[in-house]
Amino acid sequence: MHKYVHGYSQTEAGRLYDQANAVEKFLHHDSVWPEGSRILEAGCGVGAQTRVIAPKNPTSAFTSVDISPESVSKAEQLMRSLNVDNVNFMQGDIFDLPFENECFDHVFVCFVLEHLHDPVRALKELKRVLKPQGTIMAIEGDHGSTYFHPDSDAARKAINCQTLLQKNSGGDANIGRKLYPLLDDAGFDQIRVSPRQIYVDDSIPELVEGFTKNTFTAMIEGIAEDAVSNQLITYDEMQKGIDDLLKTAQGGGTFCYTFFKGIASKQAQT
Ligand SMILES: C[S@@+](CC[C@H](N)C(=O)[O-])C[C@H]1O[C@@H](n2cnc3c(N)ncnc32)[C@H](O)[C@@H]1O
Repeated sequence: MHKYVHGYSQTEAGRLYDQANAVEKFLHHDSVWPEGSRILEAGCGVGAQTRVIAPKNPTSAFTSVDISPESVSKAEQLMRSLNVDNVNFMQGDIFDLPFENECFDHVFVCFVLEHLHDPVRALKELKRVLKPQGTIMAIEGDHGSTYFHPDSDAARKAINCQTLLQKNSGGDANIGRKLYPLLDDAGFDQIRVSPRQIYVDDSIPELVEGFTKNTFTAMIEGIAEDAVSNQLITYDEMQKGIDDLLKTAQGGGTFCYTFFKGIASKQAQT
């Protein structure tokens, strides 16, 4: 596997939980599948999305896999502590899933394709394990969709470091806008993609904390050291970029970001 740009620290686990909480109502109001479905969650990480989607679909059986055994174990502990008992966790690689053909009714994948060197190959592997007429739900961000007030060249440069580091690791931080063509290239049918814009201002203090500060700015803080050591930016520029991002979370600041959610189905064989 290429180096995973965000790493697996406790701070990053906390950021993923904050992110899932902050964006739940934008991304998951329609994360609902028919009763009794068998659902694969690919790239579950520490279970930040699992803890939202599994209780929301209590009669469905989830299998959640991630390439990192440590993350899978954290996710498993979290579900146990929350008494969520409809999830089975496994370590597994999205490019080579340990499942036979056509054994899941639905597949869910969130914030994973952006880290993969060949997202279409991963989507084809997910299609392999999906039953005919089963569906895939894919959610991704797009850092190119970020704009804010007060605007700041330093903040933009800091964000661009994240995009470059992710590209150097084989990923694509601007993948959200490509969800439709990627699902199409992988051979999915009936593709529908919807943008989910998060707009934050002083009137929504929970998003100022949960999204602007604890999700987005925390993500840039998380790659600051790597960006400086890879000479993408100086230490002082990075600090200014982070300070300016934090200004968008102070009185009078605003912040915008767009996620993309795609739903598609696997065509029944003719
Ligand atoms: C940004 S995290 C997202 C985790 C979770 N879906 C969420 O939204 O909180 C990306 C996850 O993809 C996992 N991942 C990366 N490459 C993978 C692969 N080849 N197979 C399975 N999981 C992978 C990483 O280990 C990490 O847990």
